[in-house]
Amino acid sequence: MATVDTAAQGVQAFGVYVHWPFCLSKCPYCDFNSHVRHVAVDEARFLRAFVTEIETTAKRAPGRTVSSIFLGGGTPSLMQPQTVGTILEAIGKHWEVAPDVEVTLEANPSSVGATRFAGYRAAGVNRVSLGVQSLDDAALKALGRLHNAREALEAVAIARSTFDRFSFDLIYARPGQTPATWKPELDRALKEAGEHLSLYQLTIEPDTPFHTLHASGKLVIPDEDTARDLYDVTQEVCARAGLPAYEISNHARPGAECRHNLVYWRTHEYAGIGPGAHGRLDIEGQRHATATERRPEAWVMRVEEDGHGVVTDEVLLRQERADEFLLMGLRLAEGVDLNRYIAIAGKPLDPAQVKTLSELGFIETDASGRLRVTPAGFPVLDAVVADLAA
Ligand SMILES: C[S@@+](CC[C@H](N)C(=O)[O-])C[C@H]1O[C@@H](n2cnc3c(N)ncnc32)[C@H](O)[C@@H]1O
Ligand code: SF4
Repeated sequence: MATVDTAAQGVQAFGVYVHWPFCLSKCPYCDFNSHVRHVAVDEARFLRAFVTEIETTAKRAPGRTVSSIFLGGGTPSLMQPQTVGTILEAIGKHWEVAPDVEVTLEANPSSVGATRFAGYRAAGVNRVSLGVQSLDDAALKALGRLHNAREALEAVAIARSTFDRFSFDLIYARPGQTPATWKPELDRALKEAGEHLSLYQLTIEPDTPFHTLHASGKLVIPDEDTARDLYDVTQEVCARAGLPAYEISNHARPGAECRHNLVYWRTHEYAGIGPGAHGRLDIEGQRHATATERRPEAWVMRVEEDGHGVVTDEVLLRQERADEFLLMGLRLAEGVDLNRYIAIAGKPLDPAQVKTLSELGFIETDASGRLRVTPAGFPVLDAVVADLAA
């Protein structure tokens, strides 16, 4: 896996996440906070609530310089470009915005058009991330997607011609998939890719239709060995194409990593705006973990009443911060700075655990004091983190 130049990101990274919670249809594998409405969504009312929550959050966490903005969902490409423009203006009104700010919008190929994308660009978006999921029509159908492969590739072409920076997502380790069928699909994807690709292994999430089908034996996903082979093929093929993994599911040309996601994985500060958005804010020396009301209409009403939709605001204990630092940081190829771990936790990692996991070949430490997961350790990352965390 490739490493990322930490200095280039600056230590003061501050991200703003804005959640648009609606989709045209609900994909059967997805447990994101996304909802389908059969009546028109009152976009103007949501916009007013976004602007209000931005203002309130900026009053709580003033003086930051925003280094990245991420409009995620749901399907943010269902928003009108003017709506996006007004959200970005509100962020710029209440916080400083870095001149090289990264502004990403997630888009679904079913709601992409050249005019709409040009509108987002004019509004200030400079990067898009498209949910392509597969380049195989039968697989797209099985995933419940509304678009086919041709439409997905048309959306990629529009993204490429509109934005300097774009990425797309694929889901692999799908039912029936083998390295022999995945490799040509991935090769094709790499031909279409720009500087960044997100490649997620299909996860069976609780309370989804896929979970029910899986539990009843009607949906069979690749076994552990096949999933491991698929993962290995993914790493090899992408690295050879110049897009090594910088995070367990994210691949980029060196320097083209998604700066916003790095904010999460490096446990920097970020504000969460919109229904079900999470935030991490440092206020008076304490790290606050915030979460807003998940139900879209209930969130709007809360914001209209209280100026914000925050329903959870917990000060993280020292050890909780340290565990989060490991959980997030070890997903990255660059790993974590052990001195920063000590500064957060107030103590070093358990040397016996570090020794055992190093001897097993799952982690390594270097002379500069960084600890990282090895290629052998990444497929068992959850277990490695569980062993290291307190
Ligand atoms: C918010 S969606 C991206 C934008 C848009 N909603 C779409 O689907 O086109 C985030 C991404 O998470 C991934 N994802 C969602 N649920 C998943 C699951 N159960 N397993 C693996 N990947 C998943 C998909 O690749 C999806 O594109
Ligand atoms: S379009 Fe994206 S966010 Fe919406 S249900 Fe499908 S995967 Fe989830």
